[in-house]
Amino acid sequence: MTVMITGGAGFIGSHICVELIQAGRKVVIFDNFCNSHPEVINRIRRITGTAPDAVRGDVRDVQALISALSAHGCSSVIHLAGLKSVADSVSNPAEYYDCNVVGTLRLSQAMQQTGVRNIVFSSSATVYGEPDVLPLREDHKLAPFSPYGRTKMLAEELLGDMAHSQSPLNVAILRYFNPVGCHESGLIGEDPNGIPNNLMPHISRVAIGQLPVLNIYGNDYPTSDGTGIRDYVHVVDLAAGHIAALDCVDRQRVLKVNLGTGQGTSVLELVDAYTRASGKMIPITFAPRRLGDIASYYASAELAADVLGWHAKRGIAEMCRDAWNWQRKNPNGYLDQ
Ligand code: WQD
Repeated sequence: MTVMITGGAGFIGSHICVELIQAGRKVVIFDNFCNSHPEVINRIRRITGTAPDAVRGDVRDVQALISALSAHGCSSVIHLAGLKSVADSVSNPAEYYDCNVVGTLRLSQAMQQTGVRNIVFSSSATVYGEPDVLPLREDHKLAPFSPYGRTKMLAEELLGDMAHSQSPLNVAILRYFNPVGCHESGLIGEDPNGIPNNLMPHISRVAIGQLPVLNIYGNDYPTSDGTGIRDYVHVVDLAAGHIAALDCVDRQRVLKVNLGTGQGTSVLELVDAYTRASGKMIPITFAPRRLGDIASYYASAELAADVLGWHAKRGIAEMCRDAWNWQRKNPNGYLDQ
């Protein structure tokens, strides 16, 4: 039966598409392409030999969702469609609540009306907020401090309630840490609009010469080298985690699992690894801390191993190698057709 991937033309969604197709599953992408490029469909075809079906639509459009779920004979949904910039969510919270929360509600309603029961939801470690203890376990309190994080927490709560409704859904909630890297072919990758917010695409733009220097936000954190520590996870490993979740989503009503490596890496360590992987020097300058940044967070990966039988296989070196491979092959992202 077919799997619908909302936001499937995006960075993470395209990698999930490839993994599902290569696992013999039929997929249909449902995407409004507000932050992704139709060229991704062609790239997925070049990697897998199969061009996924694609429906241009918005997850707030219940009728469009019902039509797509029915027409493609979907049995499950992987829900990635949403807005994900912490900074943008502060300046425009209404758009984030509308897209991320209302969109999840409308999708749930469309699933209930078509009898599609299984949903794997793309959540984020940002729901934890400032860690009380590390590594972050799934039972850590939820205290998001940005509108983006709050929309993810509310969407999780909404899905939990739908799981116990009279028309119950089977829900797997995956809390991503920091997805980076790309498929080894370099045909699909992270292609943010404008100046990237996140670290890895910023490093890549400096390595390729599109940006002159990497600003490192804070070198006075209580960490090994004073720079921020994160749990970077290869996007292909992350995609595999979704397949594992899909395979067990109908075993219990609601599942909440971290997808991270369990290892923390500092900004300077990542820059160093990227230089080794690419052979490119990365000019840096230290800038003041970024508002809202946390010193250090990384996952407990125990539950993912126990419940999903999943663990990350790729390390920082592969993440940097693959991120550079994408950047050098696609200096202008998907505009390099
Ligand atoms: C990582 C580290 C920065 C850019 C965000 C979202 C989170 C999730 C992943 C969606 C921090 C430092 C960054 C730069 C820098 N997205 N940095 N210079 O903030 O951990 O998480 O992306 O779910 O919700 O909040 O990721 O890559 O922005 O930052 O020094 O130019 O790199 O201070 O320590 P973050 P990031």
